[in-house]
Amino acid sequence: MQDDDRGSNSSREASIGELIERRLGRREALQGLAGIAALSAAPAWAQSGGPSSLTFNEIGHRLDEQQHVPDGYEAQIVVRWGDPVLPGAPEFDAMNQAASAQELQFGYNNDYLGLYPLPADSGGNDRFLLVVNHEYTSAALMFPGGRGGGANATRAQAEVEMAAHGGSVLEIALDNGRWKPVQGSKYARRLTAHTPMQISGPAAGHDKMRTSADPAGRTVLGMLNNCAGGNTPWGTWLTCEENFDVYFGGDATKHPDAASLKRYGFRRSRQAWSRYVDRFDLAKEPNEPNRFGWVVEIDPYDPASIPVKRTALGRFKHEGCTYALCRDGRVAFYSGDDERFDYVYKFVTSRPWNPSDRAANKDLLDEGTLHVARFSDDGKVEWLPLVQGQGPLTPENGFASQADVVINTRLAADLLKATPMDRPEDVEASPTTGKVYVVMTNNGSRRPDQISAANPRARNDHGHIVEIVPKDGDHASADGTWSIFLLAGKPGQDAGARYHRATSASGWLSCPDNVAFDSKGRLWISTDGGPVAAGVADGVWGCDTEGYGRALTRLFYQSPAGAEVCGPIFTPDDRALFLAIQHPGELRGSTFDRPVTRWPDFKDGMPPRPSVIAIVRKDGGTIGS
Ligand code: FEO
Ligand code: CA
Ligand code: CA
Ligand code: CA
Repeated sequence: MQDDDRGSNSSREASIGELIERRLGRREALQGLAGIAALSAAPAWAQSGGPSSLTFNEIGHRLDEQQHVPDGYEAQIVVRWGDPVLPGAPEFDAMNQAASAQELQFGYNNDYLGLYPLPADSGGNDRFLLVVNHEYTSAALMFPGGRGGGANATRAQAEVEMAAHGGSVLEIALDNGRWKPVQGSKYARRLTAHTPMQISGPAAGHDKMRTSADPAGRTVLGMLNNCAGGNTPWGTWLTCEENFDVYFGGDATKHPDAASLKRYGFRRSRQAWSRYVDRFDLAKEPNEPNRFGWVVEIDPYDPASIPVKRTALGRFKHEGCTYALCRDGRVAFYSGDDERFDYVYKFVTSRPWNPSDRAANKDLLDEGTLHVARFSDDGKVEWLPLVQGQGPLTPENGFASQADVVINTRLAADLLKATPMDRPEDVEASPTTGKVYVVMTNNGSRRPDQISAANPRARNDHGHIVEIVPKDGDHASADGTWSIFLLAGKPGQDAGARYHRATSASGWLSCPDNVAFDSKGRLWISTDGGPVAAGVADGVWGCDTEGYGRALTRLFYQSPAGAEVCGPIFTPDDRALFLAIQHPGELRGSTFDRPVTRWPDFKDGMPPRPSVIAIVRKDGGTIGS
């Protein structure tokens, strides 16, 4: 949730003012999308899966203090906020939190999840490294008394919050049918707001990256608001800084780069950190904000490795960063900038990756071309290069070097007339078809005169998913075609909601955020913003992307009230689906002392705890079948 996406793009590429129906009609004619139709009464067979390849017994919409899975499935708690990660971690004590404990324990608000394979253990058990983002802290649910933390944090609380941010690396193993952390693993790691990191790529060393603590502009402490992420073909973790603006205090309008700060949405600090740590005060360290908003690359197999902020991929509110291989072995990385009216990006490396020499890929992300997407109303998508000296990216326009382009990526993309989207979150390519799915979570601010074919609804409260077909099936292509995959919301109630006609009464969803593919190429969608008034919690819906079951979304998991569901990822054999259940209990008026749920512990005095779960089939079969 953390609704910091108020929109800061005032440039608003002009829309052409066609009627929504005409646009959709034309797009569907072009793409042959006969399978998507407004929901009508679902036939009886829809309840058993109907034409979907997914045969689990679909659950009903629920909103209560528990989580829900279909019959025959089990949700296991793998790790909770406060559980031990590093040696010496004390037992979690919610009433007496300390930064020294939190920096050894699992952090708050787990978001992105990644799995990195390890050889089976001596008992033959499957093992992985589980990497986890800790996006932000929910003050009202985190500290007793209901008024601490966040903007009111004491110094001690602010220090706990800084230690609860960042990420965790855990070794996990399947032990007697249960996924559990391996205590004492040599791989275990916590990253926080203080972890030393390197800055590489075009912005490294630039004047705007220099601070009093780092006069060279090449190192930085910590990563902030790491939302989603991705991995690389060479087995590193990409973790993405999203709403970094909320940590900085001071008057953004008096800043020397006030126009840049405005475009990045700096308004008012949500945290008290700047009262205790000078670098978070805009007046004291005006360049510190330029050191956040990046994609961070971490080697999960080496706990001593120094994380690297890869500036070639641009600075914006990165939701995630997922890769797809190009025909010639180069690698494309897709990334959404999650704010209202912001853009979708693609970075393509200059060189192919080297499958036979992992070390040769170490700095592959420092050289390549960043592009931003323009979705034309005729169904074409163009990837426009963000390269200094090309087009309007000139010194006269404030871009004297590629460092200027990557530091102020949003301003550069404005000049290229990219398409303002409805909060682009996850962008992922199907492993079976190569089609790319761009998830727009919502945009309640789009006016009727601002709609475009790719963002076809004014006041889009429920979001939608766009499908891209790269030209020649090559992710290096400068263009491709696009169509609408689904328009979320409740059919018949929310204007324009569109799914497969056989979608059941619980098959509709709202505010899609992260997606994952299983090994059969089916799309699993997790949500952030389930409509409470409609009695719908956030959850996970699965669907086919091809064939008769295309866009027939079926409800597989519902979270405890107030949670969003993040980080969906399958084991390679599809026998477990890991989910990050973030901010359980985060509803208006719900506090540490009086939460709407005490999931997952349900113990008096214990607040709800963000946790990672693993969903398995009780008979050991594959998820969804
Ligand atoms: Fe942190 Fe864009 O969700
Ligand atoms: Ca989140
Ligand atoms: Ca997200
Ligand atoms: Ca979100």
